[in-house]
Amino acid sequence: MKVVAWRVFATRPHFAMESTTIPQGKTACLVTFGCQMNKADSERMAGALTHLGYRIVEESDCADLVLFNTCTIRDNAEQKVYSYLGQQARRKQRDPHITLVLAGCVAQQEGEKLLRRVPELDLVMGPQHVNRLSDLLERVAEGEQVLATEPIEILEDITKPRRDSAVTAWVNIIYGCNEGCTYCIVPSVRGREQSRTPEAIKAEMCELGALGYKEVTLLGQNIDAYGRDIGTNLAALLRFIHDVPGIERLRFATSHPRYFSDELIATCAELPKVCEHFHIPFQSGDNEVLRRMARGYTHQKYRAIIEKIRATMPDAAVSADLIVGFPGETEEQFENSLRLVDELEFDSLNTAAYSPRPGTPAARWPGQLEDAVKQDRLQRVNRLVAQKAFARSQRYLGHTEQVLVEEANPRDRSQVAGRTRTNRLVFFEGELAKLRSRLVDVQITEARAFSLTGKPV
Ligand code: SAH
Ligand code: SF4
Ligand code: F3S
Repeated sequence: MKVVAWRVFATRPHFAMESTTIPQGKTACLVTFGCQMNKADSERMAGALTHLGYRIVEESDCADLVLFNTCTIRDNAEQKVYSYLGQQARRKQRDPHITLVLAGCVAQQEGEKLLRRVPELDLVMGPQHVNRLSDLLERVAEGEQVLATEPIEILEDITKPRRDSAVTAWVNIIYGCNEGCTYCIVPSVRGREQSRTPEAIKAEMCELGALGYKEVTLLGQNIDAYGRDIGTNLAALLRFIHDVPGIERLRFATSHPRYFSDELIATCAELPKVCEHFHIPFQSGDNEVLRRMARGYTHQKYRAIIEKIRATMPDAAVSADLIVGFPGETEEQFENSLRLVDELEFDSLNTAAYSPRPGTPAARWPGQLEDAVKQDRLQRVNRLVAQKAFARSQRYLGHTEQVLVEEANPRDRSQVAGRTRTNRLVFFEGELAKLRSRLVDVQITEARAFSLTGKPV
């Protein structure tokens, strides 16, 4: 396996720590932006920091080490990072002993430029370097400012993640993305596809099962690409891991309509632990826009996939992502997206206004739309999404649903919160201490757009 060593950017005597080992009893705060992939990466980095002797804290204002795990999917996501980072850089000017780390997708995108813009940073590391955090911090402790953004093969992780939940867990199965969607920054910041072996995935899940976890979500930017670099596929993986003891529910995200196969639909329908929820972004309901996005399917193909899922699993929930205001998108093309949302009855939909990303083809194209047009389209589609989600929720009324209890309802501590197999959030009266991690049958009495209330039966 090829591993390119980290690169030392500069040696900075004034920020050097007195000792070259990382002292015990220090605190670390991780602030995470972005997708589930970043959340999973943060859990692995928190595991490495705990292993080094750091105590993980929630407050960044007095932590000895602050790590931002960043997202650059849209410009507003990137700008948020700079404002947080500015505050910490000023704190470091007063208190040079603190360690500042910038990880994730902004780190990968901006690399060396960030070290110049924010010289207080000790370490800038891309997503492919997550499993090497301990080594990189050793260099920082020796007084170096470290940049780790070169492409590497991701090593199997040896430290245990420090997971946020004790009930549900994420398990990465494929890193990177080889697609070239013309709006998307992900391939340039996450690198080439690299599948983990089925054995490594199963071993991680067996540990989770033994620790009492009940639900696993398999993660990949394009999960349908799983295995093509190692001669297997997602359906085969689902069969291979299905019987891991203790794990009662399996989910996976994110699916790509170009590769979503009939074999996968049949496998999901057949395997009892695979939940009836599919997250399949369509991005646009217009074939010309889809072609310019280089998505590799038509809206007809997308509709056929959803129809097949519903014909095989009538109760299945479907969610998706949609971009409005792609360069050159006409009112009529936008209305084709609206029509698709209207006709397909999504359970939920993430919508976003197109944001030009550095180095992506669509960012340089003519026909960039005014913000006002994009915002107007976003509002119009969001109104429809809320109506549709509300309508979809009504089908649960009076039904009994299996709910996996995860936590207390943050707004009403006398209630617990969990999810149905179809991923709808459900609240009901109960004591968390007794119910956490339990599968409870709940009769649904109230249905809102994105959550339900019920009583246990
Ligand atoms: N791999 C997934 C999505 C990854 S990014 C897929 O293929 O669908 C998550 C979502 O962010 C995308 O689904 C898309 O809707 C949105 N997104 C990505 N790039 C964007 C951009 N430049 N502007 C606005 N939204 C974007
Ligand atoms: Fe981005 Fe497309 Fe890859 Fe999804 S499949 S991460 S949208 S390039
Ligand atoms: Fe953002 Fe990186 Fe995920 S850009 S959406 S954190 S892959």
